Amino acid sequence: MMRSCGTGGSTSSIRAGVLDVGCGTGRLLVRLGSAYPQARLAGVDASPRMLGRAATARGQHRARFAAAAAERLPFADAVFDLVVATLSVSQWGDAAAGLAEISRVMAPGATLVAAEVLRPGPSRSLTVRPRHREPGPSPTLLPLVAASGLRARRVDPIRSVALIADAVLVAARKQP
Ligand SMILES: C[S@@+](CC[C@H](N)C(=O)[O-])C[C@H]1O[C@@H](n2cnc3c(N)ncnc32)[C@H](O)[C@@H]1O
Repeated sequence: MMRSCGTGGSTSSIRAGVLDVGCGTGRLLVRLGSAYPQARLAGVDASPRMLGRAATARGQHRARFAAAAAERLPFADAVFDLVVATLSVSQWGDAAAGLAEISRVMAPGATLVAAEVLRPGPSRSLTVRPRHREPGPSPTLLPLVAASGLRARRVDPIRSVALIADAVLVAARKQP
């Protein structure tokens, strides 16, 4: 079981629990493992094939993986300090249920960082623009996050992810 020994919400706390939901090949967990060498890492994905690739990826020896749907996470309540979900929420059969599950497994004060594609974009370069220039947040991700009981702390539109689409990144916190 993942559980922080520090105060909830601090990803620099020594043994913070970090979960990637819809982790795919686990690339983000490798990066998080480098950034937080003491963190306990977990990844879940509905695809056993993806998990097989994640488990054997270079630098992935620290993470534990489980074949599971976001809508039914195999973890106890309030055990993670940081949860990430990148380019995955839109694929979940029941995104509201998945976000409710994420909220359930987050410790008080924990942070969710979710990124999702909004729409195809014609841009030719990868640019991240300041929030104040953008027309508004995702029409779907933000309400789903709010409905799960988490409080959005930051919304960053991202223009032209990998040259093919616009996206939004939402950071939300569970009430301490
Ligand atoms: C586009 S990939 C993104 C993978 C990774 N997060 C990334 O950013 O590279 C979407 C992933 O979500 C997974 N997925 C789809 N539905 C899911 C669900 N209900 N629960 C968990 N994972 C799911 C897919 O198997 C796939 O690996």
